[in-house]
Amino acid sequence: MTKNLYPVPQAVKDRALISNEDYLAMYQESVANPDSFWAEHGKRLDWIKPFTQVKNTCFEPNKVSIKWFEDGLLNASYNCIDRHLKDNANKTALIFEGDSPEVSYSVTYQQVHDNVAKIANGLKKLGVEKGDRVAVYMPMTLDAIYAMQACARIGAVHSVIFGGFSPNAIADRIVDSQAKVIITADEARRGGRTVPLKANVDEALARKDVTSITHCLVFKNTQADVDFDPAIDVWAHELTADLPAVCEPEAMNAEDPLFILYTSGSTGKPKGVMHTTGGYLTYASMTQEFIFDIHPDDIYWCAADVGWITGHSYIVYGPMANGCTQVIFEGVPTYPSSSRIGDVVDKHQVTVLYTAPTAIRALMAKGDEPYATNKRDTLRVMGSVGEPINPEAWNWYYENIGNSQCPIVDTWWQTETGGIMITPLPGATDLKPGSATRPFFGVQPALADADGNLLEGAIDGNLVILDSWPGQARTIYGDHERFEQTYFSTYANRYFTGDGARRDEDGYFWITGRVDDVLNVSGHRLGTAEIESALVAHESIAEAAVVGYPHDIKGQGIYVYVTPVEGIEADEELTKAVRNWVRKELSPIATPDLIHWTTGLPKTRSGKIMRRILRKIAANEHQALGDTSTLADPSVVDDLIENRLNR
Ligand code: WT7
Repeated sequence: MTKNLYPVPQAVKDRALISNEDYLAMYQESVANPDSFWAEHGKRLDWIKPFTQVKNTCFEPNKVSIKWFEDGLLNASYNCIDRHLKDNANKTALIFEGDSPEVSYSVTYQQVHDNVAKIANGLKKLGVEKGDRVAVYMPMTLDAIYAMQACARIGAVHSVIFGGFSPNAIADRIVDSQAKVIITADEARRGGRTVPLKANVDEALARKDVTSITHCLVFKNTQADVDFDPAIDVWAHELTADLPAVCEPEAMNAEDPLFILYTSGSTGKPKGVMHTTGGYLTYASMTQEFIFDIHPDDIYWCAADVGWITGHSYIVYGPMANGCTQVIFEGVPTYPSSSRIGDVVDKHQVTVLYTAPTAIRALMAKGDEPYATNKRDTLRVMGSVGEPINPEAWNWYYENIGNSQCPIVDTWWQTETGGIMITPLPGATDLKPGSATRPFFGVQPALADADGNLLEGAIDGNLVILDSWPGQARTIYGDHERFEQTYFSTYANRYFTGDGARRDEDGYFWITGRVDDVLNVSGHRLGTAEIESALVAHESIAEAAVVGYPHDIKGQGIYVYVTPVEGIEADEELTKAVRNWVRKELSPIATPDLIHWTTGLPKTRSGKIMRRILRKIAANEHQALGDTSTLADPSVVDDLIENRLNR
C-alpha cells in the first residue's frame, strides 16, 4: 500500500547538505533578494573575469530579454574539467558501462581533459570557430561527452541530435542551425542491436537543402564498415592522433550560447531551445549538488541519453562541474535482462540513481524477481524525471529498487528550464508519492486560470513561473519572436510552461501533464502537429489528427486518426506502411500505437478539427463527449466511436 507521507529518514537527514530549515530560509532569501542570492551562488564556478552584474531579465510583451551574470567571462569545459585537475586529476570522472555487461572501464579527470583537448584541437583544425554550430549525433559513449565538452572548450555551439532520430529529423536540425560540422560514429549499440548512425548522417547530408556542413567527423565505435567520402568524412582517431592534449579554453561571455537543443512544441517544427553559458552552468551544477545531495565520494548515475536535456544538465554539465564520479550507461534497463539497473548499481556501487517513470513501469511489469538477485544497498537517493510518476510506480521504485531507504526526488523541469525547477530535497522534504513537491531556490511557480488570474490555495491551474532563474532558455535559435509567442504570450509577464498542475493544502505541486498539443510518450516529447505533418506527407493520406491516450508503460500512447485519399482502400498493409513511414520520417519514438482509418474527422462549421472529442474517443471516454452541437456533421462521431481501437 502506498502511504501518503514519507518523512525524511534520519540517516539521510544526518548527512544532507540542506535541511528543511535551510531550505525555507534559503528559498525565502532567493526570491526576496535574487541579486545577492545568485551573486553568492554564481561563485561556485571559476570565472576568468568575475561578473559584477547578476540579474537583468524582462518578461514584458515584445521586450522579453533574459541575461544573467552578463559581464562575466568563463569557460564551461574549464569548469567541468580543468579546475578539478589541481586536486583531483586522478579521481574517476566517468565509469563507462557498455550495452553489453561485459564491457566497462573508467577514466580519470586527467584522461577526460586530454581526450577533450585533442578533439577540441581537431575541431579547430576542421575550421570550427567560436560561435559556429556543431551537430552531434552520437551513441551513448564517452566520445559523445568528449565531443560536447570539446565544443564548449572552443566556444562552438553544440546541437545534439538524439541517436534515435531519423535522417529527415537530422537534416531539419542541421538546416535550422546551419551547423558547419557534424560529429557521429559508425554505429550505436542499444539493447543488443546496432543503429546505423553514419549511414543515417549520409542520408541526411544527401538532402538538397543541407548545404552548411563542411565535414563529418566520425568516431569508431562498433568498428562496422561504413561508407566513407574523403571529401567530407574525417576519422576522429586519424584527425586527433598527432594533436596535442592541451587546448586553451576560450574565454566566453556568460551570455554566449553554450548549446542548442531541439524540442517539440504544439505547432510547427521542433524549436532550437538555446542555452547560454554562465547562468546555465551555475544552475545545472547547483541543482545537481543540492537535489541529489552530492558528496565527494558519491557514485552518481543518471541513466538518460545525452541526446536529451537531462543528459546535458545532469550528465555532461552539472555533475562534471561538481567534479563527480559518474556512471555512463550505453544500454537500456531491460537488456540483457530486466535486472540490469540493479546489477549496474551493485557492480559500480552506485549511491545516487536518476531515471524515468517509463523505465520503472517497464521493470515493474516484469515483476519483483529480477530485483531479488541484486542488493542495491549502496543507494542513498533516487530521482525521477520526464513525466508524472504514478504512485504505484513510485512505490515500486521506492521498495524494490531503493529497499525502502532512499528518498525519491521527483524532479519537474523542461528543456526550456535548463535545470530542475520543482523537486524535493532529500534531507529537507517529506515526500508524497506522485508530487514534485516544492520549488527549487529562485523558482516562483504559480497557477493561473484561463483568463490569466493567479489562483490561491489548494487548486488546479496552468503552471506559470513568475520570474526568471539563471538556467532559463534565452531564446529559440533564430526566432526570438517564436520564443516570446510560445512562452510569454499566453500570460503576459509570466513564463508559461505548457503544463497543468495542482497545489495541495501543504503547498506541494502535483504536475498533471501538458495542457497543449504536446505528447509525452515514454518521457519523450512529441508535437501532435509534427506527427500529423509526417502523416499527411504520405501519398495515401488525405488528412490526419493525432492525440494521446493513457498507456500503461509509455504514459501516453499515440492514437492516429487518418482519412485516406479518394480511391484508396485502407488495409492492414497500408497501416503497416504508414507506421513505418512515420518511423522513417521522424523517429521510432513517434511510431503510432493505434491507426484509425476513417472517412471523416469531427470538425466545427469553420473547419477546425475538434481534438477534444478525438481525445475522449481515444481514451475510451466517449460516454462523456460533452457538447457536440457545434459540429458540422455530428454523425462522424458515432462512426468513430463505433470503430474505436482502444477498447
Ligand atoms: C515536459 C518537459 C525535464 C527533462 C526531461 C523532459 C514533463 C518532466 C516531470 C515530472 C511531471 C514532468 C512535463 C514537462 N515532465 N518532468 N517530474 N513530473 N511531468 O524534458 O522533453 O523538455 O519535457 O516533461 O510535461 O513540460 P522535456
